[in-house]
Amino acid sequence: MQTRFDLTQKDIPTSWYNLLTDFPEPLPPPLHPGTKEPIPPEALEAIFPKNLIAQEVSSERWIEVPEPVRDIYALWRPTPLLRAVRLEKALQTPAHIYYKYEGASPAGSHKPNTAVAQAYFNKEAGTKRLATETGAGQWGSSLAFACSFFGLECNVYMVKISYQQKPYRRMLMHTWGATVHPSPSDQTEYGRKILAEDPNCPGSLGMAISEAIEDTMTHPNTKYSLGSVLNHVCLHQSVIGQETIKQMEMAGEEPDTIIGCCGGGSNFAGLAFPFIRKKIKEKKNYRIVGVEPSACPTLTKGDLRYDFGDTAETTPLLMMYTLGHKFMPPSIHSGGLRYHGMAPMVSHALKLGLMEAEAYHQTKIFEAAILFARNEGVVPAPESAHAIASVVSEAIKSREDGKKRVILFNLSGHGLLDLSAYEVYFTGKMQDP
Ligand SMILES: Cc1ncc(COP(=O)(O)O)c(C=O)c1O
Repeated sequence: MQTRFDLTQKDIPTSWYNLLTDFPEPLPPPLHPGTKEPIPPEALEAIFPKNLIAQEVSSERWIEVPEPVRDIYALWRPTPLLRAVRLEKALQTPAHIYYKYEGASPAGSHKPNTAVAQAYFNKEAGTKRLATETGAGQWGSSLAFACSFFGLECNVYMVKISYQQKPYRRMLMHTWGATVHPSPSDQTEYGRKILAEDPNCPGSLGMAISEAIEDTMTHPNTKYSLGSVLNHVCLHQSVIGQETIKQMEMAGEEPDTIIGCCGGGSNFAGLAFPFIRKKIKEKKNYRIVGVEPSACPTLTKGDLRYDFGDTAETTPLLMMYTLGHKFMPPSIHSGGLRYHGMAPMVSHALKLGLMEAEAYHQTKIFEAAILFARNEGVVPAPESAHAIASVVSEAIKSREDGKKRVILFNLSGHGLLDLSAYEVYFTGKMQDP
């Protein structure tokens, strides 16, 4: 029985898909925080290059993937689609479970799909140095990897709690030539202000973003790079779903439930948006689910309103589900999901009823991660394990109601550098905040 569905290098998508053009209602624009008027694209030029701003506001449905980006994608893309037959058996479910494995990239997650594109467009625009933030280090290591290919300097602000918990991701960034600071840091005025108030502050993605933006504004030839949330990041990730549609055809099945974990929303968007297109255009009846931590329940408990993307209030106001930009998420082990907001495009999809959202506690997601590892081999990143917890609950529903379901999820990264979190779970010390 075939359980693995592989495409060849020539199947790497030649265009990114822009869901913005297919929404039945337009996405509310970003606003200037002072005037509360829609922000003109030129205003973003202080932090982003023009070519990426053009993608951020593009009304093109398909945007070409440049050849040099496809060449680097070819190091690991197309990623495999697998059917998790052993997990199905362990759960005694009639459901068929498929996963797209983005942990196959050199950095171990989906993040290089946009890191390579952002480094390429910055290089084209004459940028010499990129500043960014990272939570668990998945994004920082992906950007470090991409910068090393294009000869760009990479300066990363890593959320302090993760800097301490995940030394190996930090070393990975060093290996690819990046400079890494624990955030809040003494490198920026904003970081120094927080440290003066609370020297033991564990940091948050919102704070690290503020530091990276300040770094960008105060250094020559520097631009800012964000690993999620923005339209152009969701756009770059669309290679995931485009490949998956072809691979599900190879498997001869159509998914009825499509699941991805949500931090800032980009891996979810990457898998789901090409399917949402089919839902809108072909009236497909997919159930599409974004999964988040109960400790940072942006989609399930947040409000849909204009809010800042960072703690220091330096970004434009974005219309998104948010817990408030001052929200300090508890120090859970899924560092990449500790963000107060959600991609405006994902937020809009939820508002329009094109998707649903669920939240799980961390002990539940580690239980699911271990079940997956013991049956399918891959040790999932704790972030990705949120999707697995939802898959398991859906597969159990199938067992209970006797109905076959075809469940598809995005295994956004491996957890080989997250084993300290697994250790906390195994020693019984993990708590649900
Ligand atoms: C493996 C993995 N999955 C998911 C995420 C969540 O981010 P996003 O919602 O942008 O995909 C992260 C973030 O670092 C991650 O490392």
